[in-house]
Amino acid sequence: MSKLIAPSVLAADFANLQRDVEMVNNSDADWFHIDVMDGVFVPNISFGMPVISAIKKHAKKTMDVHLMIVNPDQYISTFKKVGADILTVHYEACTHLHRTVQAIKAEGMKAGVALNPHTPIAVLEDIIKDIDMVCIMSVNPGFGGQSFIENTYKKVQQLKHLIEFNNTECLIEIDGGVTNKNANQLIEAGADVLVAGSYVFGAEDPTATIADLKQLIS
Ligand code: DX5
Ligand code: ZN
Repeated sequence: MSKLIAPSVLAADFANLQRDVEMVNNSDADWFHIDVMDGVFVPNISFGMPVISAIKKHAKKTMDVHLMIVNPDQYISTFKKVGADILTVHYEACTHLHRTVQAIKAEGMKAGVALNPHTPIAVLEDIIKDIDMVCIMSVNPGFGGQSFIENTYKKVQQLKHLIEFNNTECLIEIDGGVTNKNANQLIEAGADVLVAGSYVFGAEDPTATIADLKQLIS
């Protein structure tokens, strides 16, 4: 499978959101990565349903929604309604993760599970066959523009082994601090999807930056 780039809208210019959504539409990017933060699970608040609906109105690519919220179960059907194609919840925020994953799939979305940097891959052993994607956080969730945590490479390799051992098709997504400096090594370790926020939207030419990143990992 070809490797995917998912620009994180968190780093877009919210006063020019339609312009930035069109930029992603017309670029080599594959998905929109959409970060929802509640100020409880993480020490920051991003945006919610009205903004996601507004993005959906213009987005022509897969909507990859990353929930950094407590009680995600409460909002699963709402996220479907506002346009999520993939819904990722945090392992650390779900007491009944298996139930949550089944509820996401019952709504017709792909189910992802995100792991904080301190959470070992081994906690996924008994759920890996049920999920479509694992999002390995390569920064502590809550903010864009943080430095990549080097321990991530090891976790990607461990997850790749777990997926192969179970003979299942689960994507590996990396989220946080992704740049042209670590993209190759992440793909070599087994990653499938690279999220990039500040690296893309902070660049002078975001379209060219996406093209270069895509080229680098193809
Ligand atoms: C962090 C978010 C990330 C963030 C990535 O909590 O989940 O998706 O937007 O931003 P960069 O690429 O700037 O680290
Ligand atoms: Zn994210």
